[in-house]
Amino acid sequence: MCGIVGYVGSQSALDVVMAGLKRLEYRGYDSAGVAVLADGGLATAKRAGKLVNLDKELSEHPLPSAATGIGHTRWATHGGPTDANAHPHLDNAGRVAVVHNGIIENFAPLRAELAERGHELPSETDTEVVAHLLAEEYSACADLAEAMRLVCRRLEGAFTLVAVHADAPDVVVGARRNSPLVVGVGEGEYFLASDVAAFIAHTRDAVELGQDQVVELRRDEGVSVTAFDGTPADVRSYHVDWDASAAEKAGYASFMLKEIAEQPKAVADTLLGRVDGSGTLSLDEVRIPAGVLREVDKVVVVACGTAYHAGLIAKYAIEHWTRIPCEVELASEFRYRDPILDQQTLVVAISQSGETMDTLMALRHAREQGARVLAICNTNGSTIPRESDAVLYTHAGPEVAVASTKAFLTQLVACYLVALYLGQVRGTKYGDEIGDVVRDLSGISGAVERVLGTMDPVRELARSLAHKNTVLFLGRHVGHPVALEGALKLKELAYMHAEGFAAGELKHGPIALIEEDLPVVVVVPSPRGRSILHDKIVSNIQEIRARGARTIVIAEEGDEAVVPYADHLVRVPATPTLLQPLVATVPLQVFACELATARGNEVDQPRNLAKSVTVE
Ligand code: G6P
Repeated sequence: MCGIVGYVGSQSALDVVMAGLKRLEYRGYDSAGVAVLADGGLATAKRAGKLVNLDKELSEHPLPSAATGIGHTRWATHGGPTDANAHPHLDNAGRVAVVHNGIIENFAPLRAELAERGHELPSETDTEVVAHLLAEEYSACADLAEAMRLVCRRLEGAFTLVAVHADAPDVVVGARRNSPLVVGVGEGEYFLASDVAAFIAHTRDAVELGQDQVVELRRDEGVSVTAFDGTPADVRSYHVDWDASAAEKAGYASFMLKEIAEQPKAVADTLLGRVDGSGTLSLDEVRIPAGVLREVDKVVVVACGTAYHAGLIAKYAIEHWTRIPCEVELASEFRYRDPILDQQTLVVAISQSGETMDTLMALRHAREQGARVLAICNTNGSTIPRESDAVLYTHAGPEVAVASTKAFLTQLVACYLVALYLGQVRGTKYGDEIGDVVRDLSGISGAVERVLGTMDPVRELARSLAHKNTVLFLGRHVGHPVALEGALKLKELAYMHAEGFAAGELKHGPIALIEEDLPVVVVVPSPRGRSILHDKIVSNIQEIRARGARTIVIAEEGDEAVVPYADHLVRVPATPTLLQPLVATVPLQVFACELATARGNEVDQPRNLAKSVTVE
């Protein structure tokens, strides 16, 4: 939430920063702004609304050319999305410019203190105090990094800050506490950004920043990192394993469409290299000793949004394959209920971005209580894996559209792998059984490909329902979280009333919602394996149809029992029951994307949302 870019080098800072902001717009799009250092002073531009508004402003009123600059795209917290509240924020003399992601919790007393000393603070933001404090400290020490360290020591809350000072034209300084910031290292040029996507077109060499660290980028001297108290810090460099083309739309009308289409590859990549020649799972990154995993007596999954739905599905696999009790909890609720955790609890934190504050706080709480934390994450070097005991990376590649698609499927694959791995080390699953499931998982990439090839009727149906106010989703067993995910996609993208229910729960209340021609999507489990589940849901379909619902049935190929009750039938390839979410979710993604587009919504950047939510 909020995207930040900083640059010092020899290119046009404005071009680099604007291109970076474009890549980070998924993090917030309420307003945007830039500041560059030119001709001994600061030049800034900012505009409410999406980046195009700022682009227009810059073409009407160009800024002077400069090789040092910063930029920001905002998801509003303190103060509405106005021009005045847009970042960067300056001190009264207009010498310091600051951009910020996060919340400065003690901004009110700091503001009062500054006002007493004669500062004028015209915006409603918490950020502005930082510009004023930095200006004061800089005037005493003439060292922007030192000024930043001094200011950060006074701040409470979560923040990433990036600042420039007109008196230091070759310097950009950044700081982070509980909010993301990465450094890009090019040849004679350096970048700061909330996410590597902002500078991937220029360099794939990055440096991670730890908590409570300040980084200084100097055009001639490079990167130096210190703790808030001034102690030099070790830097960890890494190479990003995807390139600029992965962050482009590649001819698709939206990132979401591209990411839906990338799912077969994302699923296959996430499986790659996880099984050795003898069929044994080898999750190298899971550095929790087997002895410790054997002692685990409870698994707790914490996550938010779509990742939470992946966790709900993981529970079925973990309990079925390992017989360890598994709870799944919304990360935002977790620590407030005083959960029972000890050294034998394994907490699995699922997060695409690796920066979601609710999930981060949940895992910190778990570790404080002695639990081991295993992260499932898509973003190398992000905070959640760094603070966990172990990580299993999903290999979905960059996900840009706010509504998660390919990351979800890869989270599911990772969850299945974790469940199997636990089964392997604990001996609740024999090697040949694990081999069978891995073989089934290997077939999923092709199955998703087949689903994607048959989506025209789903798109047509979605367009025909664009005028509806409500769509309900039903499922049983692992189909229930799939129903929840289908409803979430529709809420996020189409701004419609959409709800997912456990099909069996329908008769206990929600059936009262059914009225003539109400679209109800039903996710039907395989009739093979757990046939009792299948029969029950067929009865549920009949119950709602008898009350006028228009049934949209997602069922596996060859399931003829549902045909008489389906107003619309969507076929998915047959899979084992536990793995069905990997194919059944795909039509729901396509449905929501098409329906939202038909309603004229921008699918990549739905209103009020941000992809990476770094506030609680
Ligand atoms: C936000 C996004 C959701 C996402 C959730 C969790 O709410 O809008 O799409 O599922 O965060 O994000 P994470 O990065 O932790 O998976």
